[in-house]
Amino acid sequence: MKRRMNISRCLSIATALLTLVALKAYIEWTTEQEERYPMPHITRWQSVSIPPFQPFEEIPPSLVYHRFNASLQQFRHSIPRAKAYWNDKQYKNFRALEEGSVANASWNKCPSAKVEELATKIKHFNSYPELYKNFILYGDCRNYSLLINEPRKCADTKNNTFLLLAIKSVPGNFAARQAVRDTWGQEGEPGGLAIRTVFLLGTAEGRFGPHLQHLVHFESRSFGDILMWDFEDTFFNLTLKDSLFLHWTLDYCRHVRFILKGDDDVFINTPKVLGYLSSVDVNKPLYTGQVMSNASPFRFQKSKYYVPESFYVGPYPAYAGGGGYIFSGLLAPLLLLISQHVAFYPIDDVYTGLCFQALGIPPQPHAGFMTFDIAEKDREDPCVHSQLLLVHRRSPRQTLHLWKQITDPKLRCGPEALNPQPEKPPGF
Ligand SMILES: *[C@@H]1O[C@H](CO)[C@@H](O)[C@H](O)[C@H]1NC(C)=O
Ligand SMILES: *[C@@H]1O[C@H](CO)[C@@H](O)[C@H](O)[C@H]1NC(C)=O
Ligand SMILES: *[C@@H]1O[C@H](CO)[C@@H](O)[C@H](O)[C@H]1NC(C)=O
Ligand SMILES: *[C@@H]1O[C@H](CO)[C@@H](O)[C@H](O)[C@H]1NC(C)=O
Ligand SMILES: *[C@@H]1O[C@H](CO)[C@@H](O)[C@H](O)[C@H]1NC(C)=O
Repeated sequence: MKRRMNISRCLSIATALLTLVALKAYIEWTTEQEERYPMPHITRWQSVSIPPFQPFEEIPPSLVYHRFNASLQQFRHSIPRAKAYWNDKQYKNFRALEEGSVANASWNKCPSAKVEELATKIKHFNSYPELYKNFILYGDCRNYSLLINEPRKCADTKNNTFLLLAIKSVPGNFAARQAVRDTWGQEGEPGGLAIRTVFLLGTAEGRFGPHLQHLVHFESRSFGDILMWDFEDTFFNLTLKDSLFLHWTLDYCRHVRFILKGDDDVFINTPKVLGYLSSVDVNKPLYTGQVMSNASPFRFQKSKYYVPESFYVGPYPAYAGGGGYIFSGLLAPLLLLISQHVAFYPIDDVYTGLCFQALGIPPQPHAGFMTFDIAEKDREDPCVHSQLLLVHRRSPRQTLHLWKQITDPKLRCGPEALNPQPEKPPGF
C-alpha cells in the first residue's frame, strides 16, 4: 500500500515537472510571438461569407436561410417545442424564415404590445419580476438612436484596427472606465497593431436616477471613447446593447480584425491578448473565451439570472462567459444578420451563444479567460495575472496596481505561477 502511494507520488511529480517544462517552452514561444506582432492578412473565408453587407437590411431572409440551413436546422432541433414565451416566439421566427420573411419587422413600434394583452397570453406574467415585464414589453424594440458617437474611432487607424475593446459599462461607472483607460484599455499601436477602445452605454437607469448626461458628455469630450444610445441601461437591456454595438461596428468599424467584448470590471492582460491573436489562423472564424457547456436556466427566483419556466424551456447552447470574450470582426455582420431571426434573450452572453449556434460556429475554450475569477490566494499575485488573458473581477484600484506590476520589466516569476486555478462558477 505504502509502495503504491510512493509510485503514484513519483508519477505525479514527474508529470508536474514535464508540464512545467512544456509550459516554459510555450511561454517562451508566446513571448517571442508578442515581440514580432505579425499583422495577419484576411484572405479566404471573407469570400465564403455572405456577399456585400451594404446595406445590410436588404439581404433577403431566403439567402440567410439558404446559407445557414444546416446550422439553423441544428439550432431548431436544440430548442424544445415547449409552451414557453421565448420558445414560441423563436418557432415563429423559424416559420417566417422558411417563408422568406422576418417574423417581427416592427422594431420601431415600442412598446410592441400592451400589458393586458401579454397577461392573457403569458402564464404567470403578472407575477414576473418588473425587469421581465419590461423585457417582454420592449422585446421587439431594437432601433434606438446614438446620443454620443465616435464616428472616426476606426477610420483614424486607416481602417486597420487590429483589436477593438468594446467595454460594457453604465453611466455611473466613471472610476471603472478611468481605470481601464489608464491601464489595459489604453489606445495605441503596440508593435504596429492598432488598439481602440469604446465604452458602451445606455442612459442612466430609471425615472428617479441622478441625471448623469452632462458628466458623460464631458467625459466623452475629454477622452473620445464613449458610445451612448438612447435606451435605459439595465441588465436585461444588454442584449439590445450588443445588437446596437454590432450595428455601430458595421457602420464605423467594419474592417476591425478582432473584437473583445467585456465588462468594465475585468482585468485584461492586453499584451498577452495581442500575442495570442497574432498567432491565430485568420482564415478561421474565432469565437473564444471561457466556455460554459451544459448550462441551463437558473430557476431560483432571487438570482440575477432567474428565468421563469413559462419564459424559456431547454438547455443553453455552449457559450463564452460574458465577462469577456473575443470574436473575429468578420463575424460581426453575420451575427447581426442572424440576430434578426433569433428572438432577444434577457441574458446577453447566452443570446450571443444562441446566435453563434445558429451560425454553426461553436465557442473555442481558452484557459486564459477566468470570468469567475481565480483561487482566492492568487487574486493579488501579479505573476499569476501575467499568465492570464482576462480575469473577472477587479476593482479600479486593484486594476491599476496589477497593471503596474505586470508591465514592470523587473517582474520575475517562478514556475509556481504558471498554473492558475479557475474558481467554480456559482451554482451552474
Ligand atoms: C434545409 O435542410 C433541410 C433538411 O436538412 C432540407 O429539407 C431543406 O430542403 C433545406 N432547405 C434549403 C433552403 O436548403
Ligand atoms: C410583432 O410582435 C408583436 C408582439 O408580439 C405583435 O403585436 C405584432 O403584430 C408583431 N408584428 C409583426 C409584423 O409580426
Ligand atoms: C430606426 O429609426 C429611425 C428613426 O428614428 C428611422 O429613420 C430608421 O429607418 C429606423 N431603422 C430601422 C432599421 O428600422
Ligand atoms: C475607411 O472605411 C470607410 C467606410 O468603409 C471609408 O469611407 C473610408 O474611406 C475608409 N478610409 C480609409 C483611409 O481607407
Ligand atoms: C430597455 O430600454 C427601453 C428604452 O429605454 C426601456 O423602455 C425598457 O424598459 C428597458 N428594458 C428593460 C428590461 O429594462
